[in-house]
Amino acid sequence: MLEDKNISSYSRSSNCFEKPHAQEDILEQKRTELEDMFTVSADMLKTITQDFIQSLKDGLEKKDQTVPMFPAFVFGWPTGKETGHYLSLDLGGTNLRVCLVDLKGDGKFDITQSKFRLTDEQKHQDGKDLFDFCAKCVKDFVNKHFGSSSSIKDPISLGFTFSYPMVQEKIDHGKLVRWTKGFDNPNTEGKDCAEMLRASLKRFDVPVHLTSIINDTTGTLIASNYVSSDSKIACIFGTGCNAAYMEHVSNIPKLKGFDIPEDTDMAINCEYGAFGSYGSPVLEPVRTKYDEYIDSHSNKPSEQMYEKMISGMYLGEIFRLILCDLVDDGVLFLGQNTYKIEKPFVFDTAFLSLIESDPTDELLTVMGLFSYFFNLDTEIKERLFFRRVAQLIGLRSARLSACGISAIALKMGYDKEGCHVGCDGSLYSKYPGFADRLHEALVDIIGEGGRKIHSRQAEDGSGAGSAVIAAMTKARKEAGHIAHR
Ligand code: GLC
Repeated sequence: MLEDKNISSYSRSSNCFEKPHAQEDILEQKRTELEDMFTVSADMLKTITQDFIQSLKDGLEKKDQTVPMFPAFVFGWPTGKETGHYLSLDLGGTNLRVCLVDLKGDGKFDITQSKFRLTDEQKHQDGKDLFDFCAKCVKDFVNKHFGSSSSIKDPISLGFTFSYPMVQEKIDHGKLVRWTKGFDNPNTEGKDCAEMLRASLKRFDVPVHLTSIINDTTGTLIASNYVSSDSKIACIFGTGCNAAYMEHVSNIPKLKGFDIPEDTDMAINCEYGAFGSYGSPVLEPVRTKYDEYIDSHSNKPSEQMYEKMISGMYLGEIFRLILCDLVDDGVLFLGQNTYKIEKPFVFDTAFLSLIESDPTDELLTVMGLFSYFFNLDTEIKERLFFRRVAQLIGLRSARLSACGISAIALKMGYDKEGCHVGCDGSLYSKYPGFADRLHEALVDIIGEGGRKIHSRQAEDGSGAGSAVIAAMTKARKEAGHIAHR
């Protein structure tokens, strides 16, 4: 499976009568090797964080940096008093959602939504077809909740949450820099995706007005702060990983010439899943041959390096590659047909959650999982080994995740004044122990100040956040404040 076999020492030609002992010994040896490979010490975390801080500054300084630090054209925090009804369309990594958000003011809101699972085909079809599909979903939703389109006189405000790297010059414009999370729809990169969606909405005669295009992290930042004003950073740990925070315009040199007052604040979509892309001396020592394999076989080699070690899209695949390596080396599943587990990306990260949280002594959930999904019998010593491997992958993900948060916190001085980090995404919400591991690593990196940075489950950024931003933008433009953006 993997070209480089330097961690494998078990040979297929070993005497099968010695297998029970041999397998136990070899699993023990493999466990030790994997522990060495996947353990990231506090010193390593600190080194990565220092480099991360520099990457954040570089991104604010100049265009086209590894961590691009995109200004999001959301100016300052919400008041918490924003009200009104807004539609939002959320194109994330796994699902498409259309939401109707009722902002009630006082940090409260209600959401009604429809959700569609995106197919693999939709992630690769022409961009125009993807946006046409989005427009059709919005149209169906509007018909269902507002009556037939023709009866609607004033177009309804629609915020678009488009969670991919895009460079913006104003709030209702966003040029896709490159696809991430396995998407590669042709004829989209380099184009204004707000405009593409507008064209699709027009083609399908949908009575909406596209007011803003935002990233999911920006939405999460604003939604979390709307509900509780001590939330200063937002992170997504889902299919991808990324963060947003609020920066002083005076600290964003690349915005010179945009005619924005220096004393304003602006949300920044860091797009820091790209940290370490195209090679990084600090990330390299913690990358394993499994990370290299995933990267070189991805549709975007050398991109999103940090994300590929952390996010939900890849953790299950790292686990699967380790198992396949051991199958190739004749250590696991001897005499069984392993074809089901040999298919790329068939081992969902949710399975790692299940493995880590199996409450039975015999690890019966793990047994059922392998038997049901992969038609494989397992022994208890193998299941214990699997659990340890899952822990190593999950722990490394959480610890590395702390580097990005620490970098922002240290840069902004939040280690001194303290802050909450609004987090969302299936890894954060569903992976057992992720938040605790993250908090421990924050202390490893920052020391006592790390205890002042506390993550918590965020509000629905892509839905509610998008609505709050629509309301803020409307108020800003009506007040004539930076109305040209
Ligand atoms: C990927 C995307 C980024 C998004 C993140 C979480 O990193 O590039 O825009 O915020 O996934 O969904």
